[in-house]
Amino acid sequence: MYCTRKITDAVTWVGGYDRRLALFENLFPISRGITYNSYLISDEKTALIDTVDSSVTRQFLENIHYVLRGRSLNYLVINHMEPDHCAGIEELLLHFPEMKLVGNAKTFAFIRQFYDLNLDGRTLVIKEGTTLSLGTHTLRFCFAPMVHWPEVMMTYEQKEKLLFSADAFGSFGALNGNLFNDEVDFARDWLPDARRYYGNIVGKYGAQVQAALKKLTDMELRMICPLHGPVWRTNLDYFLDKYRLWSRYEPEEHAVALIYGSMYGDTENAVNILASSLAESGVKNIAVYDISTTHISTLIAEAFRCSHLVLAAPTYNGGIYPAMLNLLHDMKALNLQNRTMALIENGSWAPASARQMRSLLGELKQIELLEPVITVKSAIKKENLDELLQLKESILSSLEKL
Ligand code: FEO
Repeated sequence: MYCTRKITDAVTWVGGYDRRLALFENLFPISRGITYNSYLISDEKTALIDTVDSSVTRQFLENIHYVLRGRSLNYLVINHMEPDHCAGIEELLLHFPEMKLVGNAKTFAFIRQFYDLNLDGRTLVIKEGTTLSLGTHTLRFCFAPMVHWPEVMMTYEQKEKLLFSADAFGSFGALNGNLFNDEVDFARDWLPDARRYYGNIVGKYGAQVQAALKKLTDMELRMICPLHGPVWRTNLDYFLDKYRLWSRYEPEEHAVALIYGSMYGDTENAVNILASSLAESGVKNIAVYDISTTHISTLIAEAFRCSHLVLAAPTYNGGIYPAMLNLLHDMKALNLQNRTMALIENGSWAPASARQMRSLLGELKQIELLEPVITVKSAIKKENLDELLQLKESILSSLEKL
């Protein structure tokens, strides 16, 4: 049975909810599921904005046929060709023989890679700024390459001032019937997953996100309709501001996160002592994570949120504790920069992880490394306590400068 929601009189949400998928892209845990958004515009012509993942195609097709009530579907606009949004193309072509696919040159290159389809006479290849009239509604296409793939574009509907933004402004998490941002407590219930989605999915492409944001400054926006998560119809600047910060790699908060690996509890002990000492000096909302039990996507999200990161790791096989090594590689891959860091290492006979962590941090841009870098030999001793207090003072004075 159909399950849809009205965006406006002429625009209907026809997407689907997936609360069964455990790992998005087979990488990222999504304990709250995910929503695949798709939007159907009904005017003299009808146009669908993107399709959905194959897991919800049955629901999706029921939704479309319900909204169309026997009418034909004239256009399928393909803003993004990642399979979580393009899986329904082949089936839609069968259901609607008159339907034309609307995309750019790169879109159609990807379609040919993913599908073996005869598209003769069924394509409309658009360029940046091309418009497409549906009657009273007009679509204008705006390229947003690498947010998140090279073919990505956004579609702006000029009459109702709706931006169909593809992956941008999306979030992990299945909607619970409440589709709009003003129907949920976004800051409480959605922001952590929206940040985790941003940092891990498009975090690498800050410059490209900024380029896309710049194009939006010319548009009057009434709603932002992403491919995942809530539709924005109030307080758009709240989320636009988050994107401005994240894409410039500016910390969202003046906050400290301590991330540790610990084999027998001694490195953890150092982190707990430092965290408690910071708290006694007035630092609030300190975050502490065991790297072995916290998914790396959460740590990346925290790295995008916090101004200060303390990394603590044992030496392992003469190098960095593997989970910490993985995190450092991921930070580099995602272009994380402009952070204040501190390092704690542990090693019973040949401590080496701090030197190697420092070297990897040297590959990130605009990293300030606080002193002292602390070496624990097996367990915390009196001299380590003194160093931890010195490091606390360094963190405090660095926070005061912000
Ligand atoms: Fe939601 Fe890049 O796909």
